[in-house]
Amino acid sequence: MIKFGDPQVGVEEIEYVKTIFDSKVFVHGTVTVEFEKSFKSIFGYNHALTVANCTAGLHLAHFSKTKHLDRSVAERFEVVCPAMTHVATAHAIELAGLKAVFVDCNNTDGNMDIDLLELAITDKTVGIAAMHFNGVPCDIERIMEIAAKNDLYVVEDCAIALGARVNGRPVGSFGDAGVFSFHPVKQMTTGEGGMMVLNEREFHDTLKLERAFGVDRTFGERKQAGMYDVPLLGFNYRMAEIPAAIGVKQLEKFDAFEDVRKNNYQYLKDELSVINGLSIMGGDINDDRAYYCLIIKIDGDRENRDRVAAELKSKDIQTSVYYPHPVPRLAYYAKKYGYSAVKFKNAEDISDRSIALSIGAHLSESQLAYVVSVLKEVI
Ligand SMILES: Cc1ncc(COP(=O)(O)O)c(C=O)c1O
Repeated sequence: MIKFGDPQVGVEEIEYVKTIFDSKVFVHGTVTVEFEKSFKSIFGYNHALTVANCTAGLHLAHFSKTKHLDRSVAERFEVVCPAMTHVATAHAIELAGLKAVFVDCNNTDGNMDIDLLELAITDKTVGIAAMHFNGVPCDIERIMEIAAKNDLYVVEDCAIALGARVNGRPVGSFGDAGVFSFHPVKQMTTGEGGMMVLNEREFHDTLKLERAFGVDRTFGERKQAGMYDVPLLGFNYRMAEIPAAIGVKQLEKFDAFEDVRKNNYQYLKDELSVINGLSIMGGDINDDRAYYCLIIKIDGDRENRDRVAAELKSKDIQTSVYYPHPVPRLAYYAKKYGYSAVKFKNAEDISDRSIALSIGAHLSESQLAYVVSVLKEVI
């Protein structure tokens, strides 16, 4: 079986997790702090905060940036959001009481079309949800210029872009907040988990309170056990110590994982580029992008793509689709806002014709060669 995701966790993670069992400190411990410190120093961020998962971090960021808005001015303020993304990017906006305004992507790397983004800004717009599609950085510098011009906040969804940089600067460090995912299929995992990165100390401190009920004193800071006050509305979006322990050990392996992913990507790209009947999405191979999966588009219609995916499955090759629908076409959003296919042609094209192939660190060259030979046959 060629698995799409096969988290590479081993004895190092198990040994470190055992220390949590020994200490019996499952929350409020030092390992989440250790994970945050290592993460920010390895990737070059000012501040880092562990969260329960990426979606929680995105929600927390949108909530915190907009909680002071006077809702009598506009019943629902707007945040511009890519149509071609995981639903979490949009749900985080909507859950904060804001309206996600969707924008189509370009048809080369799948990132948000920046000209359309500019056109989508109205006097109700308060923010931009940027997202780096399949590890290829979006034009975040231009997005930041537009944000500055229009006085908008920016939250970067970096769920599948860990390690990507723009002009030497890591993704997530451009916007007001950036959020990563450690779901098991991601470039590194904590089982379930996420990391927020922030530039400003003050915003970091506020988010730290809002991440944990809004209580004003952490466990260690309480002079009298059980005594604290709550100056802010907050969530329980903390990460526990066990996932953080897995994360600390995964961080030590990240570079090695990414090297294999890059080689796997290069191999598949070389081998598949000579096959008629498909095209490869996603720009150049370089050290500034992250390597999440390799996305191909199958010539023809959705039915043909589904046929190819089914044949791969029948030959024990797991695949996925990033993402199965433009978000506004998903039932919840289509019902809420209506859906106009003409507005999301590029996103539709990706959803309906693409197949995501794994380039995970678990795959050997002979397994990739098998994927290539099966693809040649079925296409
Ligand atoms: C772009 C993007 N954002 C957010 C998420 C959600 O991440 P999590 O499962 O950590 O909440 C995903 C998951 O695949 C994603 O691809």
